[in-house]
Amino acid sequence: MNISKRLIFTTGSAAAIGVIAIVGFAYSGIYDVSAGSSHSSMVNWLLSTTSHASIARRAKDIEVPNLSDDAMARAGVNDFNGMCAGCHGAPGRDPEAMGQGLNPPPPDLAESAAEMSPAELFWVTKNGIKMTGMPEWGATHDDDAIWPVVALMTRLPELNASQYQELIDSAGGMGHHANDSPTEGHPHEDSPDKSHPHGESEHSEDTPAEPEEHDHSTHEH
Ligand code: HEC
Repeated sequence: MNISKRLIFTTGSAAAIGVIAIVGFAYSGIYDVSAGSSHSSMVNWLLSTTSHASIARRAKDIEVPNLSDDAMARAGVNDFNGMCAGCHGAPGRDPEAMGQGLNPPPPDLAESAAEMSPAELFWVTKNGIKMTGMPEWGATHDDDAIWPVVALMTRLPELNASQYQELIDSAGGMGHHANDSPTEGHPHEDSPDKSHPHGESEHSEDTPAEPEEHDHSTHEH
């Protein structure tokens, strides 16, 4: 075997061993997928750098409408409070249990809004972030419903709890979450939480499983 053939053989074998090791690792169950376990600092760096660069690249050509109008932020506050604050919190409001249990944790959007451009805030809200709890709101909302939420986010760095509440009070009727409870953060009518009350699956001895019980289609409304 001459030198170049030997080099190709060695590199090829190393690559094959690498692939076998990765596949073996995947099937082994050694990796801890629990949300409570943290990534190594190397993996954290790789994920956050990839994410920031991806967002910056995709947001750069987005045309931003005029967000400085107070009416625009007011139009977004009910939807922000109904769709986002449960995970991210809001001025004077902590994230709910859902947001507190996520890994990666949902950031405080007042800090994000101070660092990210409106186009980036819009892009993330519309498209979500893969393999995190951040949903793709554009799957169910058009751009005209998302921009007011972005306008509200750009105000977060300067809003305290009572100013936030005043904005909600003055926004009666605006946004499709206008009739949600503004401060208690009750889940949505169609929230999965409602159809799965705590502990429903745990008492199979005294309450035999009755899947039909939760099938709302059988109820007359
Ligand atoms: C189910 C929980 C959840 C809900 C609801 C949610 N988010 Fe998020 N969001 C997240 C998580 C988790 C991240 C962090 C993702 C990451 O680390 O890459 C995130 C990230 C973001 C970011 C990027 C912030 C940054 O500093 O990188 C923005 C902007 C954002 N969300 C906006 C919103 C808006 C606006 C809404 C409501 C329309 C919303 N989110 C609703 C979980 C949620």
